[in-house]
Amino acid sequence: MELFSRACQVIPGGIYGHTTPALVAPTASPYYASHARGCRYWDVDGNDYIDFMCAYGPVVLGYLHPEVEEAAARQRRSGNCFNHPSALMVELAERLIELIDFADWAVFAKNGSDVMTWSVRVAREHTGRPKVFMVDGAYHGIGSWCTPEDAGLTVEDRAHTHKFRWNDREGLKELFSRHGESCAALVLTPFHHPLFGDSQMLDPAFVDAVHAQCEHYGAMLILDDIRAGFRLDVHGSHRPFGLRPDIACYCKALGNGYEISAAVGRHELKLAASEVYFTGSFFGSSVAMAAAMATLNIIERDEVPARLAATGEAFCRGLVTLAEQYGLEVKLSGPPAMPFMTFANESNFHRSQQFVETALAAGVFLHPHHNWFISNAHEDADVAQALQRVRPAFASVKELFDC
Ligand SMILES: Cc1ncc(COP(=O)(O)O)c(C=O)c1O
Repeated sequence: MELFSRACQVIPGGIYGHTTPALVAPTASPYYASHARGCRYWDVDGNDYIDFMCAYGPVVLGYLHPEVEEAAARQRRSGNCFNHPSALMVELAERLIELIDFADWAVFAKNGSDVMTWSVRVAREHTGRPKVFMVDGAYHGIGSWCTPEDAGLTVEDRAHTHKFRWNDREGLKELFSRHGESCAALVLTPFHHPLFGDSQMLDPAFVDAVHAQCEHYGAMLILDDIRAGFRLDVHGSHRPFGLRPDIACYCKALGNGYEISAAVGRHELKLAASEVYFTGSFFGSSVAMAAAMATLNIIERDEVPARLAATGEAFCRGLVTLAEQYGLEVKLSGPPAMPFMTFANESNFHRSQQFVETALAAGVFLHPHHNWFISNAHEDADVAQALQRVRPAFASVKELFDC
């Protein structure tokens, strides 16, 4: 709190964006990080947590993974930022194209928002059309076409963004019938993970409708794989869901905590991709690229997505069983590698907040209304210990809400 009150003097909002305490559990959640290793995380007060947020996604292999750190350190000894990109940029592009079946080219940036907004521009340049269709409640970053808040925007910023509901085939058809001729791109995440809502998987019939409408109207399909990418499938999350994107964007898990994002795309879009200006002071930094090469190699070698799914399933099964023991019912949604838990018959998240506040106090870092993340550093013993530690959290929900 001392750091936070100092921060409020010199930083607007103290802590802004998704890590603001106001969006978590303000009285129970840590405000500032000290250090982390594997699946353990320490705050500045010295409290330690078994961490199921993984820095909100980037840390897929565990904090300070030795091989990733070694690759980054080796590159750092040669330098990070230069006058030009290093050979690593070419090697990383080749690696992504080798891994991702539809990809013929790749570009790199620092954040998910960078690549999402650029991809929309590439689709506009390629099609000569202005409009973007996105799912209501989806998050694609802070580009003015999609940022969730209105502050600082003009009406014109949003004039070409149109929304449809997840898995709503009729709604999608209707939107295309109105604006399909001027649609540059439809933007989709591989599963729907709204804040304050259960995660929802793709209905295969909806996938068919997306492909049919995009193909009929000549709209590009942009896959926002920023949150899920490389956690569900090392070859990209379009594969398990049968999606055929024209462009896909990756970020979080790509560098195991090092700052890097990527967009990959089909050959047909390469000319437009070369014409839409894209750069940043640190877009070419080599340390993050070395970390990304190592991360991808480990994800593939150790079959990390399958491990995350198995660990996530064990954690989710354990939570359901524990809840039952306390006479409570919980619902787990989304892929087990990125689970989201709600309490049955509740829409206001009060039970979730109480649960998470008590879990935090017991040393398990969870979020009340954002999906969680499993890392490859979560061993069976960590899951067992976390399940043991969340017992009082279920007990407190039972006591407060279910008497
Ligand atoms: C699905 C999705 N798209 C885009 C973004 C934006 O990425 P960034 O915060 O790196 O700009 C995020 C970030 O959480 C995300 O989860």
